[in-house]
Amino acid sequence: MKIENKTIWITGASSGIGLELSQQLAAKGSRIVLSARRKDALEEIAKSLPGGLERHSVVPLDLADYEHLAEKVQAVLPEIGPVDILINNGGISQRSLFVDTDLAVYKQLMDVNYFGTVAMTKALLPSLLTQRGMVVSISSVAGKMGSKLRTGYSGAKYAVVGFMDCLRAELAASGVKCLTICPGSIQTNIAINALNAQGEAQQKNDDSIINGMSVSECVEQMIKAIEKERDEVVIGKGISGMGPTIKRFFPGVYNRLAAKMEYR
Ligand SMILES: NC(=O)c1ccc[n+]([C@@H]2O[C@H](COP(=O)([O-])OP(=O)(O)OC[C@H]3O[C@@H](n4cnc5c(N)ncnc54)[C@H](OP(=O)(O)O)[C@@H]3O)[C@@H](O)[C@H]2O)c1
Repeated sequence: MKIENKTIWITGASSGIGLELSQQLAAKGSRIVLSARRKDALEEIAKSLPGGLERHSVVPLDLADYEHLAEKVQAVLPEIGPVDILINNGGISQRSLFVDTDLAVYKQLMDVNYFGTVAMTKALLPSLLTQRGMVVSISSVAGKMGSKLRTGYSGAKYAVVGFMDCLRAELAASGVKCLTICPGSIQTNIAINALNAQGEAQQKNDDSIINGMSVSECVEQMIKAIEKERDEVVIGKGISGMGPTIKRFFPGVYNRLAAKMEYR
């Protein structure tokens, strides 16, 4: 799919992968609709993109409020016009053991990462069908393999993979493409913002993220996957990139590794 002059709605555009996607896609000639909770941050980013706020739009929203996302989208679509690509990127991670973690944390992880994705896709599907566009959902390698401290996050990201596999089959005849992206460890604030057992941001970084792939390299690979209309890609280096392949072909080996590793 060609990127130039496409209208691309990106959730989680205020930070990390979503911010970098906005910058790289705008530089390639796309018009970006930026969403996340922090309106001020989104406006600053939109102003800095080529064409500024005259070309790009800001739609603040909370993915956890998934029951009201359709209304929000409907209210702004007449002004924005047809949307070609939706990138379901906004999300939040977890670093806590199952035994310690409040049930409310599981609900929050599912609401933001899974129901937010489903609700945004439902709200924008009519436009994507008209445009024969694309749904891109950012799952994770945690959506393809398990590791300690992520029972809720991994559950939600596995759910995103399943949702996208079914949607791809249902939409195949419509011309709408469905791409699932599973990043490994990427250098963003994901670990700093990850929820602890009480549902608060852990406020510290992890070695795996610090030593992970740069966000610019990750996003370059994501954009190639969009242009090539791939179904699913894993993007990462080291164990975070290899993990899903090891799990697929040698599940016993992977499961023993996962039980031993104190992977953060
Ligand atoms: N970095 C990695 O290693 C990695 C690996 C695999 C998958 N991923 C996935 O990549 C995506 C982007 O994460 P990132 O690495 O860029 O992390 P990040 O820097 O923490 O960015 C997360 C983005 O999601 C938004 N967000 C969080 N909760 C939200 C909510 N309730 N409603 C709306 N927006 C919300 C945040 O914006 P506001 O705070 O302004 O709302 C922010 O823009 C996530 O889905 C994450 O699970 C990341």
